[in-house]
Amino acid sequence: MNFEETPPKNLVLIGFMGSGKSTVGRELHSRLGYELVDMDSVIEHREGRPITRIFEENGEDYFRDLETDLLREMAEDGQRKIISTGGGVVGREENRDLLRKLGYVVWLQAPVDVIHERTSRNRERPLLQTEDPLEKITTLLEKRKPWYAETAHLKVDTAGLDGGELAMGILESARYFFSNP
Ligand code: S3P
Repeated sequence: MNFEETPPKNLVLIGFMGSGKSTVGRELHSRLGYELVDMDSVIEHREGRPITRIFEENGEDYFRDLETDLLREMAEDGQRKIISTGGGVVGREENRDLLRKLGYVVWLQAPVDVIHERTSRNRERPLLQTEDPLEKITTLLEKRKPWYAETAHLKVDTAGLDGGELAMGILESARYFFSNP
């Protein structure tokens, strides 16, 4: 495992909407005890409104600026964390650089049909409130795949595994990282 600079501090989860970042983040938190930062939740809390309303009232670029600000802030913070990101965080080059600086980056992958099934259960994701969410998921995922791939230190196929199993696999792969204080 090659890290560009000093050993990273955090464990960072990236991946498309519905790939299981929040669930795996909670499992990792209960196993490691590190603080869990769910970026979407932090942004919603700070803004005092849900992401759907942030998009509606201020637009996507405003939300993306909030994401970048939060990444910059966390890059300055020395406390070890598990960071669960929003699916679109990899869209900006600066964010991709920040994510790799922040820590060990794990890309959770799920097939399009699984993502569709999981994300159709609620209406919390503004980008999927379209006539054809499956088409939107397919095109957005294809566009983002190279960004996830270039950012991640580890790619994990989530198919058929629950959050606990995934967390254990990630910890096994990240042993080197956790054995370096
Ligand atoms: C987004 C994913 C969402 C949230 C926002 C935009 C995206 O997070 O950040 O709705 O662009 O893929 P989840 O990946 O946690 O659903």
